[in-house]
Amino acid sequence: MTNGPKTPTAHRGKPPAAHLLDEAERVSLEELRALQLHRLRTTLRYAYENVELYRAKFDEAGVKPDDCHALEDLRWFPFTTKADLRDTYPFGMFAVPLERVQRIHASSGTTGRPTVVGYTENDLSMWADVVARSIRAAGGRPGHKVHISYGYGLFTGGLGAHYGAERAGCTVIPASGGMTARQVRIIQDFEPEIIMATPSYMLTLLDEFERQGVEPRTSSLKVGIFGAEPWTEEMRREIEERLDIHAVDIYGLSEVIGPGVAQECVEAKDGLHVWEDHFYPEVVDPVTGDVLPEGDRGELVLTSVTKEAQPVIRYRTRDLTRLLPGTARPAFRRIERISDRCDDMIILRGVNVFPSQIEEIVLRAPGVAPHFRIELSRSEQMDHMAVRVEARPGVLAGQREAAVRMIAKGVKDGIGVTIDVTVVDPGELERSTGKILRVRDLRNA
Ligand code: DLL
Repeated sequence: MTNGPKTPTAHRGKPPAAHLLDEAERVSLEELRALQLHRLRTTLRYAYENVELYRAKFDEAGVKPDDCHALEDLRWFPFTTKADLRDTYPFGMFAVPLERVQRIHASSGTTGRPTVVGYTENDLSMWADVVARSIRAAGGRPGHKVHISYGYGLFTGGLGAHYGAERAGCTVIPASGGMTARQVRIIQDFEPEIIMATPSYMLTLLDEFERQGVEPRTSSLKVGIFGAEPWTEEMRREIEERLDIHAVDIYGLSEVIGPGVAQECVEAKDGLHVWEDHFYPEVVDPVTGDVLPEGDRGELVLTSVTKEAQPVIRYRTRDLTRLLPGTARPAFRRIERISDRCDDMIILRGVNVFPSQIEEIVLRAPGVAPHFRIELSRSEQMDHMAVRVEARPGVLAGQREAAVRMIAKGVKDGIGVTIDVTVVDPGELERSTGKILRVRDLRNA
């Protein structure tokens, strides 16, 4: 398949052919619930018997694995947090002897110790299955070439995507992150149909296409599977239009498995189906920890129900979302796109601000590129937010001033705070090679 016509709405509304679903995806809701309960009870028992930390936590909370009679009973069990993983660093949460652990990944952790995750042979196989299922949901088919720009290494993105794409019967191009000029040449020469990258790195690649004088819309790419960082509908539109592809969302986290916990279907683009036969989702109030009803926004909590090396019980992801009923995969509930993490909330002079709100406003302003940074500072006991955003090439001074006014007004009217906006020259802000760090907080510097 080469540069055929690429209409980003071509698949919309069409149900997937039944043969494209794996057996586990064809279950009815009733079958899935029964399977989940069975697996959950097994996992609770397994975690209690094999991981010291779970035994201590369950005992302290006064719950026994057999107290879980229905899926709703999970709410009585204690949460697991990143701190638990740090406290047991490196291998204290493993439920199997080290000899049975076939691979280790770790999340970088900007502060303190990294968190370590282990996988048995069966875990790696399950992971490849859920990523393969995700790639199919995105429109990937056997024989497609998949260009993987997620970093390879301790980060779960590269290798997670890699083995999933192989499992899906695709031809893998393991580009990893960085060496952007070479990646663009490889995309031109190898003609992949699919790219997997962080959305911010996709923007870096797009700029490089243009720098090399190549119109991105003429590339062979038809689908992008983007995740590993929050992004917005505005960003989806930007990428789809500049590249003429379908841009879909993939979610996951190392503590739970890596990419492939949830995936958006290309035919619906309406949020991400959680692969609930392996990961049981709850949404809780981030402050009280109470389970919220379906549809309410709160913190996503995940429990693995088939993992061996490192089962996770009620892991607090810190990611904010809502649980919604299944659509394109009716048995599997969806989570709404994750645009924000609890930890990313900025309190600016008493007003809560999320970076995604700034992204939405910046990306709607004409004349500026989707490259921006937020800087927080403090002077005279007052917190200040400054947003620096790049002009698109060739934009005139007057248009830049208009963009400044529009963004400042958008933030004032929409969020209720006054910020400083500066439009800088094209190429001035550092480009992402993986997960982008948008906010610099200098308030306590
Ligand atoms: O980022 C796993 C991954 C790799 C997911 C490649 C998707 C694609 P961690 O490094 O442990 O694992 O970071 C997990 O990244 O808790 C979210 O805050 C964020 N995140 C991941 N996917 C999305 C997404 C990988 N689609 C953390 N939308 C998570 C928003 C995401 N945030």
